Amino acid sequence: MCGIIGYVGKERAVPIILNGLEKLEYRGYDSCGILIISDKKSFIFKKVGKVKELAEEIKDKKIDGNLGVGHTRWATHGGVDEKNTHPHFDCENKIFVVHNGIIENFFELKKDLENKNHKFNSDTDTEVLAHLIEEYLKEMQFKEAVLKALKQIKGTYAFLIGSLEKPNFLIGARKSSPLILGLGENEIFLASDPTPLLKYTNKFIFLDDYDVVFIEDGEFEIYSLLLNKTKEPKIEEINWNVTEVSTSDYEHYMLKEIKEEPRAILQTVAPRVNFLKKEIEFEELEKSKDKLKKIEKVVFVGCGTAYYAGLYGKYLFEDILNLQVDAEISSELRYRNYPFNSKTLLIVISQSGETIDTIEALKKAKEKKVFSLGIINVPGSSLTRLVDVNLLTFAGPELAVASTKALLAQMTVIVLLALYLAKNKKTALPIEKIIYEFKDLPLKIEEILRRENEIEKIAEKIKKFNNFYFLGRKFEYVTALEGALKLKEIAYLHAEAYPAGEMKHGPIALVDENFATIFINPYNSLFEKTKSNLEEIKARKGNVILISDKEENDVFAFFKIPTTIEIFYPFLTIPVLHLLAYFTAKKLGREIDRPRNLAKSVTVE
Ligand code: M6R
Repeated sequence: MCGIIGYVGKERAVPIILNGLEKLEYRGYDSCGILIISDKKSFIFKKVGKVKELAEEIKDKKIDGNLGVGHTRWATHGGVDEKNTHPHFDCENKIFVVHNGIIENFFELKKDLENKNHKFNSDTDTEVLAHLIEEYLKEMQFKEAVLKALKQIKGTYAFLIGSLEKPNFLIGARKSSPLILGLGENEIFLASDPTPLLKYTNKFIFLDDYDVVFIEDGEFEIYSLLLNKTKEPKIEEINWNVTEVSTSDYEHYMLKEIKEEPRAILQTVAPRVNFLKKEIEFEELEKSKDKLKKIEKVVFVGCGTAYYAGLYGKYLFEDILNLQVDAEISSELRYRNYPFNSKTLLIVISQSGETIDTIEALKKAKEKKVFSLGIINVPGSSLTRLVDVNLLTFAGPELAVASTKALLAQMTVIVLLALYLAKNKKTALPIEKIIYEFKDLPLKIEEILRRENEIEKIAEKIKKFNNFYFLGRKFEYVTALEGALKLKEIAYLHAEAYPAGEMKHGPIALVDENFATIFINPYNSLFEKTKSNLEEIKARKGNVILISDKEENDVFAFFKIPTTIEIFYPFLTIPVLHLLAYFTAKKLGREIDRPRNLAKSVTVE
C-alpha cells in the first residue's frame, strides 16, 4: 500500500524517482505523483493511473533538479482523483508532504486549522501535516516545526517532508509504516522498502518507529521522538540481487516467482541442514535453547497466505511434537483475550514483515512476555525488529501481489523448526527420512513446473466456470485454502476452500453441472476418505479436477504429482495450484501481478 521514494544527491532526480516508483508498483496503488526541486524551480506531476503514464507525460520535459520525491497512492481518505494524489502542500504551496499510513486524528486537526484560516485543497488526511507545519513555522524554525507537528499526529505514518525553498533538504519520519534510508556515494535515498534502491546501494538504515531523519547538504541525522534525542545510525547490508527485482524473461513476476519456488526452498534449507550428520542446525536459536525447552504451547500467527503457512505449522507440529498448537489470523488475534503466558512460543509469519495486523498482534502478545520467533522474508522489515529471534526465509524479493515462493520458504522453515525441536524427543515420524527428502523436494517441484503446459490445458478447461470449491484434508486443506485464495485474487473467480469432510455439512448444496470442485488428494493415509467425497461430488454431476499421485481417468481434469512423504505433499500440490491460478487468470485477461483492490504489503488496518 502506498509507496514512497525520495532522493537527494548529485544525479538528476527524475529518472531515479520514476524508476523507484515503477519498482514500488507491486505494493498496489491507484494514482501517483512526483515532485522535483532544483535551485531555480520545482516541478510537480500527478496522475490517476499508472507510473508509465506519468513517465510518458514527463519524458520530453527538461527537468534537472537533484532532489525528488515520488509517491504511489492507495486511496484511504478521499477518492481516487488528482487533487488527492500526493504530494500535498500548505496554503502557500511551499511545504510538501507525501505519506503512507493513516492520520487518525486528522478530522480534529483539520477543523482546528480551518478555524485558523488554513485552506485545504484535498480530501486527504495527509494534507493536515503540511498545514500544521506551516502553522508552527510562524513561531519556530523548520526542523522544530516539523517535530512539533509530528508529535500531534495520531495514527500511522511514513512521511517525506520538505520545502520548495530548500533544494538540499529532505526529512523522513516513520511510525508503524515502513521507511528506510539508502546510502549511496554522495547520495541519500528514502524509500518504503529496499526494492527500488538495490540498483544504487546495498547499505540501508531501517528507521525505527518515531525516528525522524533530517537530510541536509549530503549529511543526515536521525532524531528519535521517543527518546527526545539524536540516535547513532545502524547501517545494515542487504545483498539481494538486482536481477531478482526484474521480471527477467518472464511475462509476469508471479510466473517468475513460481518458477523460483525450488530455489526458495533450497536457499532456506542450505544454511540449516547438515545432511552428513542428518541434523538441523539453527545458529539463530543457539542462545534460546533453554527458553525453547520450557515451551508448552505454540501459536502461529499471520494473515492470508502467511496464515496458511501457520496452519500447516499447526498440523505438522501436532504430528511431530507433543505440544498444543494453534494457528491464528493476526487481525482476529490482536483483538482477542488470548491466554498467552511465558511458556507460549509465538511464531510470527510474514513475507513483507510490514503487515500491520501481524505487527499489532505481536505487540499485544509481547505485553504478556511471550517469546517470539519470526519467519519473515524481508530483512530489516518492521517485524524482524520486533520479534525475539528471526528465522528468515531466503526466498529473495517477492514482487507479485500474490504470494507464492514465500509460502514454500515459510513452510520449509516450519518443517526445519519442527525437526529441530523434535531432537531428543520421541516422535512417530521418520525424522531422518524427512531430512533426506528435503534433497529431492526441489527436483520434484521442478518436474511439476516443467509440465506447466498440462496445467495450462486444465486452466483452459476450467476458465468457463464461475464457482469453485477446493477440497482437501489436513495438510491438503491448507493447499485447498491457498488454491482458492490465489484463484480469487488473480483470476477474480469465486472460490471457497473446505476441509473435504465438511463438504457434506452444507457446501454440497451448491454442486451441479455448472460447478467445479478441485480435489487435492495425494495417495496418503487420508486418500480413501477424500476419494469418497470426490465420488459424492461426481454423483451430483459436479465437475471434478483432481490433483493426486494416484491416476484417475473418470474426472473432468487430472494432474499427476510425484510421490513424496505425507508432510511434504503440500510442497508439490501448492505449486500446481499456483500455476493453475496463474494460467486461468492469464486466459481471462486479468492483470496478474497487480490485481484490482489488492496491495502487496497491507500497512493499514
Ligand atoms: O507480507 P505478509 O506475508 O504479511 O502478507 C500477508 C497477506 O497479506 C498476504 O499473504 C496476502 O494474503 C497475499 N496477497 C496472498 O497471495
